[in-house]
Amino acid sequence: MTYRINGTETAAVPAPGQCLRTFLREQGWLGVKKGCDAGDCGACTVHVDGLPVHSCLYPAVRAEDLSITTIEGLADGDTLHPLQQQFLDAQGFQCGFCTAGMIMTAASFTPEQQQDLPRSFKGNLCRCTGYRAIEDAVHGVRHTEESGTVGRNVPAPAGTAIVTGTARYTLDIPPSSLPGLLHLKVLRSPHPHARVLSIDASAALAVPGVEAVLTHHDAPLQRFSSAQHELHTDDPDDTRVLDDVVRFRGQRVAAVAASSVAAAEEGSRLIRVEYQLLPAVFDPAEALAPGAPALHPGPQDAPSAAGPGASAANIVAELHSEIGNLAAGFAAADVVHENTYESQRLAHMALETHAAVAWFDDAGRLTVRTSTQVPFLVRRTLCRIFDLQPDSVRVVAGRVGGGFGGKQEVLTEDLVALAALRLNRPVQLELTRQEQFTASTVRHPFSVRVRAGAGRDGTLTAMDVDVTTNTGAYGNHAPGVMFHGCGESLAVYRCRNKKVDARAVYTNTVPSGAFRGYGLSQMIFAVESAMDELARGIGMDPLEFRRRNVVAMGDPMLSTAAEPAGDVHYGSYGLDQCVEWVRAALDRGMVSGESSGAGLGSEWLVGAGTAVAMIDTVPPRGHVSNVRITLRPDGRYGLDVGTAEFGNGTSTVHAQLAAEALHADPRDVVIRQADTDLVDHDTGAYGSTGTVVAGKATLAAAAELAVLIKGFAASLFATTSAQVVLAAGTVVCGGERLPLAEVAARARVAGIGLSAEGRWGGTPRSVAFNVQGFRVGVNPGTGEIRILQSVHAADAGVVLNPLQCRGQIEGGIAQALGAAMFEKVRVDDAGEVQTKILRNYHVPAFADVPRTEIFFADTTDSLGPLGAKSMSESPFNPVAPALANAVRDATGIRFSVLPLARDVMCLALQDQLRRNGLPG
Ligand code: FES
Repeated sequence: MTYRINGTETAAVPAPGQCLRTFLREQGWLGVKKGCDAGDCGACTVHVDGLPVHSCLYPAVRAEDLSITTIEGLADGDTLHPLQQQFLDAQGFQCGFCTAGMIMTAASFTPEQQQDLPRSFKGNLCRCTGYRAIEDAVHGVRHTEESGTVGRNVPAPAGTAIVTGTARYTLDIPPSSLPGLLHLKVLRSPHPHARVLSIDASAALAVPGVEAVLTHHDAPLQRFSSAQHELHTDDPDDTRVLDDVVRFRGQRVAAVAASSVAAAEEGSRLIRVEYQLLPAVFDPAEALAPGAPALHPGPQDAPSAAGPGASAANIVAELHSEIGNLAAGFAAADVVHENTYESQRLAHMALETHAAVAWFDDAGRLTVRTSTQVPFLVRRTLCRIFDLQPDSVRVVAGRVGGGFGGKQEVLTEDLVALAALRLNRPVQLELTRQEQFTASTVRHPFSVRVRAGAGRDGTLTAMDVDVTTNTGAYGNHAPGVMFHGCGESLAVYRCRNKKVDARAVYTNTVPSGAFRGYGLSQMIFAVESAMDELARGIGMDPLEFRRRNVVAMGDPMLSTAAEPAGDVHYGSYGLDQCVEWVRAALDRGMVSGESSGAGLGSEWLVGAGTAVAMIDTVPPRGHVSNVRITLRPDGRYGLDVGTAEFGNGTSTVHAQLAAEALHADPRDVVIRQADTDLVDHDTGAYGSTGTVVAGKATLAAAAELAVLIKGFAASLFATTSAQVVLAAGTVVCGGERLPLAEVAARARVAGIGLSAEGRWGGTPRSVAFNVQGFRVGVNPGTGEIRILQSVHAADAGVVLNPLQCRGQIEGGIAQALGAAMFEKVRVDDAGEVQTKILRNYHVPAFADVPRTEIFFADTTDSLGPLGAKSMSESPFNPVAPALANAVRDATGIRFSVLPLARDVMCLALQDQLRRNGLPG
């Protein structure tokens, strides 16, 4: 029995029933990725005798005596396969977790398949890119530029590692590097609300390979929040590592540690648990009803964020705020619109699931390698839970395979740390795709009643929103998502009379958490739908109505948030440009064939819609980044940043910023990141802060290092700093030139460390803007929405890397189209998640995502690094309302519940036809 992998025969034999993917990974071919276990995502695609297969579905024994090629074997020696080079040139990736599978699939295409990518890529999913960059890669379009710094399409430093399968994600650790590694499997609650009376683990412990079963008896009493923020008091401490009360179906009850995943699974099946069932509530109305069972009743459980104002047992946080005179605002209105808008639960669907591994290093320090956006905050939380000192814990992230807010939580790290501390062994936990759906976090469902009024002259006179969010069983991110959602969605309008009543409510359902947009996408869906209706009510073009009523440079930002955002300023303003870009593009599209809908049959209804969005460029109350940059012995620069890279492209931007300040080539900036050993502290990668916060710290550090190098070089040239010029790889003084490696060597001899640090605390903050426009065709017979034209304009300040910024926007639009049209984590009336596999949860595939025309406002931000603003989560926010507004324009029907699923659309359209006396 032999297996030939990438041209080399191995004597290894797969375990009985083992899939080819796991076998290959065990042999060290870590470029083969695990995304779903069900053949749905394509991240594990390899070639068997030249044909692409999903190796998670392919029995390893069937590959015996066949030739297996993984991404690591695709290149011809040092010469990349043409598709690997094309993915580099087009930068056809962001996080890169799907890239090996994409390349392996594309490398097998016939010319015919290459011309039909929507069909040819139907077995491969990408959550980050929106597919345009992948399409360009397959067609050989080059976007990256060889040279340049700020404003150029500098390629991602990790590009070659990604396309060759050598980039190391969380669990891409050779099995031999952690001898004695144990695997955890979690037993999860089958009940939505219950007290654990007893746990019998005797049968589990008798399974060969099972080392321990951990229960609430092993867990610290210290409560914490899985949400991670700079201020841990932002979230209620309502969670234990393992609790004796379970509050949703899928919550941890026990964890089995075993020498293999199979043994841990077998052990978890044999645990017997006796429960006392408790009454449960599944939606906020039930949870708020008098007499409803309280999910967190005891003083120890009391959520800190609800505060003394909390008006009901299951309210985590609430907001009641009014500015101006609402009654007078409505009295002045000629038209009033009132409706309730519902946004659904969404899965982040990062292709890399949550995973962590913990071990003790040679110095006895607890080390946790995890798929996180916030390594420093994870360390702080672990220290709180286990009463450890920061210097006894190291948290490090490898490359992270997508986050979207989902990895701003502690969902695995506490459990591997508990097991490692109890068992003194390395321990690993990898969530399955099913666990991602049923036991991680989702986007908060929002129910938003909007009442708004406008005068016939087009003046918005009053805005009144009543908001209920469902935080599920735990309050992680509940206050922040609610406050943030009610902030910029209303502040973007100049209207003087505004009122907000909002509450976040516990229910016995899967916990909600941080999700791209952080509450804004749900609120903007409601507000922008309402603005559209008001404009229609007064007979005004909806985009013109917005233009007249949105804030302009210098306007006060009339926020209804709990705390006045005194540190938010117009560092720049490009909303007016964005509106005009979108208006002009839609006007152009109306007269050109395909995007006008002229090619559709006469039964199709055609319409256009827009929506605007504003976002603060940094989260409130502090977001810290520390950076260190050093002149290395080889004359290059070593840049240490704390923040993580998960496809957001911050590494590239940091290299560009450092290179700009040091007059260097970005390729000469060598980055290390996401490791608590590197710098003092970093709040992490959330709230789109990678460019703005860590970027400012990078710029400050690099600028200081430039001064230090010039000063030291001046001493070598016996002159002043002013006479020294820093250039790529060298310093120049008069006609003399000294390589930077030589400068570094002389500094070492002189006992001088040419190193500098930079820090930024995230305030003052600016605002960024996005405007989305769609023209759609709607088929009343089938409910199909066909996107004829998609236009997006963004005010990102100075765009540091257009290729990457465009990629973020395209990825955000694609993800938001999924949210607008297909995606929904379905939870039944008993609190059980029904969408447990990818196949039942429609993530946009290549064929689902249209190309979007993207425009950038020409602005320079006075607060951001070199004029830049954030542009990561915000492109998501205006997409669903713009689509709903386009559908409204086409059909006359206001859809107020997301997603605009085809069956829902079809029923409503048929109903409308019947009401109009036409055959449905
Ligand atoms: Fe495709 Fe992240 S780049 S999933």
